[in-house]
Amino acid sequence: MKRRFGRILIFTISAGCLLYLASCGHELPALDDDETGTPVDTTVVEPPDTIAGIVCSPDTIHFEWELLPILKSSCGRRDCHDAGAASSGVKLVNYQTVMQTGGIKPFNPEETRIFKHITHTDEEARMPPPPYDRLNSRQVQVIETWIQQGAQNFRCDSATIPCDTDSISFSSDIAPLVKDACYGCHNQYVHEGGITLLDYEDLQAVALNGSLYGTVSGESGYVRMPYGSIRLPACSIERIRSWVEAGAPEN
Ligand code: HEC
Repeated sequence: MKRRFGRILIFTISAGCLLYLASCGHELPALDDDETGTPVDTTVVEPPDTIAGIVCSPDTIHFEWELLPILKSSCGRRDCHDAGAASSGVKLVNYQTVMQTGGIKPFNPEETRIFKHITHTDEEARMPPPPYDRLNSRQVQVIETWIQQGAQNFRCDSATIPCDTDSISFSSDIAPLVKDACYGCHNQYVHEGGITLLDYEDLQAVALNGSLYGTVSGESGYVRMPYGSIRLPACSIERIRSWVEAGAPEN
């Protein structure tokens, strides 16, 4: 009886692994809008009030604002490395799970498991896998610097970040922000909530219908974005507001 249970267990685990490998491998994950898959993990740990007044250093990578959105959006979706799927045991959900399952070697990017995969030259081994885009060089740099700085969870008060909200540019301010924090769940393959945020026209549409500012600021009636992550830093939300109020120009 015990052995039979063991066999069933092994079979179930192998079938599960195969399924996850297939979904995170070369085949496109079947993630239609109406699919009822494992929901995205929504555990959100907002920074405690005790950070109020702690000045943010511009040279420090802040895990929750700068790195977690990249990991969540590009890797931690419900088909790959969220708490439910956890392909290959890797859960890129919050600081604890990244440290526990990402093979992080503080100060040593070359030995860090997720960094090796992100920068892998072999198309078979790289993450995110084809057909998804590789992380861009700026995103790789953020992850590398974070590991070199000791893979800490530095926290500070985002209100202390100097914030210039004048003449916000689509190409140098808005597009990179969306690429880091939103793109992984709203691209040509994954359209969470039926939303695609690939190019200017897509962004213009959500800007003008109010849902871009509505979701990032958490206005009532909107689901707050980025989904399952802490709020964007106050300055990013203000810059989005400023760009939307300027009529969402393609500048
Ligand atoms: C981890 C995946 C994920 C990330 C990252 C993400 N979204 Fe979403 N988004 C979703 C899901 C899931 C929904 C559907 C939510 C629902 O309807 O319950 C959604 C829905 C939306 C909607 C429609 C929601 C509404 O209330 O009308 C907008 C607009 C949107 N997202 C914009 C963004 C923006 C802007 C970002 C980046 C700041 C972002 N998303 C990042 C998963 C994500």
